[in-house]
Amino acid sequence: MPRQKVTQQKIAEHVQRLGELYPPISLDSVDRTVKRPDLVTSKYGHVIDYLARVELEVDRNVLELLVLLPDVDDTNRTFYADVWQPQEIQHGLILDRLQQDLGRQPAEPHLDVSFKIKILGALANLKPIQEVAKLLYFLTGASTERQAVLAYNQINSGMRELGEDAIAETIITPIKQQEPGHFAFYRMSAEKMVQNNELKPWQMFLTRVLREKSYNLVGTNAMDRYKADMGGVVVDLGLDDDLAGYAREVGRVEQRLLWAHRQGMDFPPYILKALKESVELYLERGGLTAPAPA
Ligand SMILES: [Fe+2]
Ligand SMILES: [Fe+2]
Repeated sequence: MPRQKVTQQKIAEHVQRLGELYPPISLDSVDRTVKRPDLVTSKYGHVIDYLARVELEVDRNVLELLVLLPDVDDTNRTFYADVWQPQEIQHGLILDRLQQDLGRQPAEPHLDVSFKIKILGALANLKPIQEVAKLLYFLTGASTERQAVLAYNQINSGMRELGEDAIAETIITPIKQQEPGHFAFYRMSAEKMVQNNELKPWQMFLTRVLREKSYNLVGTNAMDRYKADMGGVVVDLGLDDDLAGYAREVGRVEQRLLWAHRQGMDFPPYILKALKESVELYLERGGLTAPAPA
């Protein structure tokens, strides 16, 4: 069945609905009961640290968006300013407080916009390049939000198995409900650009090249330290049993939008490569969730 055509209006309505349905989660709504803090820490401490940092990095993501898309339109502005940033920052603050309740260090979000983004941003003053940057931005959003959905699903069942109902019900479930809407926004935005042939063939080609060269898993910021941390998350969540299956899940949108013409490829190989690299870096570090002190 052909996919329904995505219109600008459909995206705008989606954004409005998300804003109405999901006000940012307040810190006061959280029940801070943790029954067995030691067990929660040993199983999920590292994962919570990682997600708290990544969620708090939303403020850098907004700066990146403004650098990459100097001519950002109303729908995108409403999404990041009224829906996405206010929701994500609360995810970060709530997880950061949980990690501190567990006796762990507060998150240290990485808030500097990278040199690569600045270069692409400078080039994005040229409209055809900005269109490429925009599609890359949406694909990145779809991929990272999908990873968030999958991670929160795993943590939610993990916390329930541990009997940590307060964490599952008042932290993970409310956060988990907000991520699929973010994913859908980025997916639809990317779909619309491709369906409407907003990019010329050379721009699509450039998008593919840049995507392949610059793909990063959520929160790794192209830095080995974070890649190794992400490897730890993958292992702690048990996703390393089937990395290819996970790559397929994470890469479904870009497989369809960028690589459908490639015969015999069922997910973008650079995603599996990034996953393997992360897990390897984590194992090289001795399976430690943080680098050993010098
Ligand atoms: Fe989030
Ligand atoms: Fe999100």
